[in-house]
Order: sequence, then C-alpha cells, then structure tokens
Amino acid sequence: MKHTRKLLSILLTLALVLSCSVAAFAAGVFTDIPSGAYYERAAEYAFEKNLLFGTGDGRFSPNMNLSRGMLATILWRNEGQPVAGDSAFTDVRSDAYYAAAIGWATENGIVFGYGNDLFGPEDDIQRQQLAVMLYRYAEYKGENMTVTSSTPFADDDRIANYAKTAVEWAREREIIAGKGGNLFDPAGSATRAEAAAMVYRYLTADRGDDPDDGEDSPAPNPPVTEPDPTPTPDPTPTPEPDPDEEAKVLVAYFSCTNHTEGVAQKIKTAIGESADLHEIVPAVPYTADDLNYGNSICRANQEQNDEAARPVISGTVENMEDYDVIFLGYPIWWGIAPRIMQTFVENNDLSGKTVIPFCTSGSSPYNDSNIKASAGNDITWITGQRFSSGASQAVVETWVAGLNLDLGQ
Ligand SMILES: Cc1cc2nc3c(=O)[nH]c(=O)nc-3n(C[C@H](O)[C@H](O)[C@H](O)COP(=O)(O)O)c2cc1C
Repeated sequence: MKHTRKLLSILLTLALVLSCSVAAFAAGVFTDIPSGAYYERAAEYAFEKNLLFGTGDGRFSPNMNLSRGMLATILWRNEGQPVAGDSAFTDVRSDAYYAAAIGWATENGIVFGYGNDLFGPEDDIQRQQLAVMLYRYAEYKGENMTVTSSTPFADDDRIANYAKTAVEWAREREIIAGKGGNLFDPAGSATRAEAAAMVYRYLTADRGDDPDDGEDSPAPNPPVTEPDPTPTPDPTPTPEPDPDEEAKVLVAYFSCTNHTEGVAQKIKTAIGESADLHEIVPAVPYTADDLNYGNSICRANQEQNDEAARPVISGTVENMEDYDVIFLGYPIWWGIAPRIMQTFVENNDLSGKTVIPFCTSGSSPYNDSNIKASAGNDITWITGQRFSSGASQAVVETWVAGLNLDLGQ
C-alpha cells in the first residue's frame, strides 16, 4: 500500500511536469521554443521561408551559436540561392553547404573574410559581424543607408571600427536591441535565436512584408545590383582649365587586395586617354599577415595606431607637374586612409591641383581627414566617394560625370 501510494505520487508529479512543459512550449514548428519567446515568430518565419531550418528532432536549438557560413547561407537563400563561383577563401571547401553562399556573398561585397584568404566559415559569428553582414546586404539591396540619430550603446567603445556604422544603422532601424544595461556585447557570439530575430526584424521592417499577412515572397526588396549611394558632387567649382590645353588626370591608388585598384581602373576607363594610372607601391610589400587586422599587432594596425608612421613608397610619379587633376584612391583602414597615403601627399607637390579622393571599404564611410591634414596648401579638394569592392563601371562613370570636371575633351 505504501508502495502503491509512492508510485501514484511519482506518476502525478510526472504528469504535472509534463503538462507544464507542454504549456510552456509553443505548439508551432519547433518543440524547444518557449511560448512568447522574443524569437518565436522569427524562428518560424525563418523556417517558413526556408532560410534557417531546425537542428533535428523538431528542435530549433535557440541557444546554439550560429556560424559565419550559416549567416551567409541565410542571406543567399533569401536571394533565391543565386548561382555563384567559388570564393577564393582557402578554408571554404567547394563541397561545403555554404560554398555557393559565400561565393555569392563575396562577389557582391557582403563578406570579405579575415584577410590571409581566410573566411572562418565554421567560426561562431560575432554580434558585430552579424550587423556588418546585414548592413552590407542592405547596401547590396540598394537601400538608403543613412543613419540620423542612432542611440549609442554603453559598450560602444568595444565595437570594432569596421562595425561601428553597421551597428548604428542596425540600432536605428531596430534590427538590434542590445542586451540588458544598454550593452551590445559586440564580440559576443550570436545565438541562433538572436540571429533569427535580427534577420527577421531586418527582412520584415516596414516593407509591407508582414510575416503574418500570408504573403509568401521571401525577398521583401526589389533586387538592386548596385549598392553605392548616389554620389554627391562637391559644390566647390573645379578651376577652369586653359581652353587650349587638355587637362591631364592622374589616377593614383594604393590597393592591397585589388578592390581600390578595380575602382581606379574604372575611373581611368570613364575618363579615357587623358588619364594615367599610377599604383602607389610600398617599398616593403604588405603580406597577408601584415594585413590581418583581426590581429591587433599586425603591421597595418600598428601603422594606423601610430600617427607618425609614414611607410616608404617605392618609385615616384613621373612628371607630377603635368597633372591638373589627381584622383587619389585607397582602402579604409580603421576608419581612415592608410598611413602610406600620408607619405604620398607629403612627398608630392600637389599645389595648384584638384584632388579627388576615393576609397573602398567593408562598410566604413568615406574619410579623407588624415590625407587632407598631411597635404600641403593651395590644393582644391573635392569631396570624394566611398565605393564597395564590386562597384560597377556604370556607377563609377555616373560619379565621375557628376563631378562636372572640365577636362577640355
Ligand atoms: C588593416 C585593415 C583595416 C581595415 N579597416 C576597415 C575599417 O575600418 N572599415 C571597413 O569598412 N573596412 C576596413 N578594412 C577593409 C578594407 O577597407 C576593404 O577590404 C578595402 O576594400 C580593401 O581595399 P584594397 O583591396 O584596395 O586594399 C580594413 C582592412 C585592413 C587590411
């Protein structure tokens, strides 16, 4: 009798526990999502749109971390899984599930990797990296990327430079909300729940693609292939050239991974015969290790941290005095131009010339402050433009045309 009572009480407790768990978890697609969880709808949405599946046995595994390869795959699936070539990353196997996604994301300037030809597809994605990938995706979709009044997080100073704009953008658009205590935790790994929530908020934000309106379209935005914003020509008038003489243009650029070089070539093509191309070559070339800016003491980072650093340039521009207009191209390194660009403007007499900087970056905006500060006086500066690595000839040409340069042609 004592045994029967004990058995009964165990069975009762078990029944109670079971009924509580059933009530606590959503009756939706996944069995491990508590009802009302902040990511509940996001997980279902990701599942319905074939963006992110479960982890087996009906589980979503919300607290598991999401990998970098998986986020690229989510965005690629949202685009309808376009066919793409392999990326050049040595750690992305061509038979991996994320290979095509990373190939596509690389081609479209959505991912750049760590440098050193590495992408880290299996690495947990950091919250700031997630913001950056979403930001570049939005750029790729041709969205208005203006940030007007983003509220800072308490740990803003821990956000890597390359991610600052993206985090501000994501916060202003309420894609990220942050953690308690107004913290963003930029280097923290994003869980599947967090990633699903951010992707959901981005994809469904004010675009009439209400997840509950029964619509089935996975891509809320019209596809736009060119991410660059409409360039704003500088109001500073370009000095009139002598009508008898054709103004000569130099497109000088520094580029380690060919992004800026690509834009420089397109500028030359846009201008034609009267433009010469000149590569600014460092006396000591930058190795992949030198450029591995995830490593705080890599050569590039040390130089950027040292205001006095002036890496030596190999070779000179022949006949600098012949040029009237200088396009000056560089990648953005930690928000500004690489120090070697300061060497360039200090070594060359640019007085009397019109100088138009242009840059490429992962996401950081245009910045010409350090080259302007280092250059001499009597230069007509035209505010330039940041381009994505995949900027098309048409975009570059529109920008050049908008500068209204009178090249006497
Ligand atoms: C040392 C270093 C620092 C960088 N810092 C930033 C940054 O602050 N913001 C950003 O958006 N991209 C950053 N990047 C990415 C480059 O700006 C981007 O990949 C650029 O297009 C490279 O141009 P290139 O191929 O002409 O060298 C950095 C790259 C390196 C190597």
